[in-house]
Amino acid sequence: MSAGFSQLDDRGRLRHLITLDGLGRDLLEELLQRAEQHTSTPGEVPARGDTLRGWTVAILFAEPSTRTRASFELASVRLGADVINLDMALSSRAKGESLLDTIWTLQAMQVDAFVIRDAEAGLHEQVARHVAPHVSVISGGEAHVSHPTQGLLDALTIRQCKGGFERLAVAIVGDIRRSRVARSAHRALATLGVPEIRIVAPPEMMPDAAEYAGARRFESLDRGISGADVVMMLRLQHERAQGAEPTDLAAYHRDYGLTAARLARANTQAIVMHPGPMNRGVEIAPDVADGPQSVIRRQVANGVAVRMAVLAHLAEARRKRAP
Ligand code: NCD
Repeated sequence: MSAGFSQLDDRGRLRHLITLDGLGRDLLEELLQRAEQHTSTPGEVPARGDTLRGWTVAILFAEPSTRTRASFELASVRLGADVINLDMALSSRAKGESLLDTIWTLQAMQVDAFVIRDAEAGLHEQVARHVAPHVSVISGGEAHVSHPTQGLLDALTIRQCKGGFERLAVAIVGDIRRSRVARSAHRALATLGVPEIRIVAPPEMMPDAAEYAGARRFESLDRGISGADVVMMLRLQHERAQGAEPTDLAAYHRDYGLTAARLARANTQAIVMHPGPMNRGVEIAPDVADGPQSVIRRQVANGVAVRMAVLAHLAEARRKRAP
């Protein structure tokens, strides 16, 4: 986030949600607590509310998405908002319209919040600087930099399964260098007090030394997950690798794929996480993805609850700012 821009208002409430960087523990805990109220048991009628009644949420995604996009839409609708879902590859941006012109066009239709996914770093902040004062910008993924609602849903899932964050060892494994999921998970978990965060990756997927302050680095998967309470697997980010990714996926699976035999090195109660989409047989073996330690579908369910919590927080903060 550049100097002179803040995603918080003068009460310390969110005006936008672009990154978890700089957000305090109390605010993260409040969002998790709020998300907890929006969780529902599979098969039950999902939690609903009317916090967003009268709001219009525009979802503008310029990169592929299944979970994030669907859950932002469901979260908005379940809180009473109207939703516009624009595939940016098919919008007028493809005819040369600038993103800001697209934003101003939709703002003229009374959009209250923009949920944006884009491959360009810094774009979310740029949009946030230009929207009307009452309008919020929420990141649904920014390049390799940030994916704040994913970080929150990962934290919520860990808290539900482990009862808290103290005393945990969390191993994040795979293409850390190019992963916005890993960056936001690290930020959330470090802020919430996880004492031991490990990043496990081959040398070419390790982030620069200045990043991931406090995390322990491992090139060996076996050592990196040994005794871990949480094992978070990541997909190879081919779309951002520009040819630097391994072409021998069988060799990658052999060295960095999570198999049942490998998982046995972690704590016996360890949970297995993955943000999706999974490449089965590459970073994770199918029997582990579907096995008893996997909480991958719970992460998906929590994604809706967390996005409801963020939207509700933004709406309440806006109401309190109103003159
Ligand atoms: C991730 C993303 O887009 O960053 N997916 C997600 O939002 N659940 C992870 C990925 O694409 O590997």
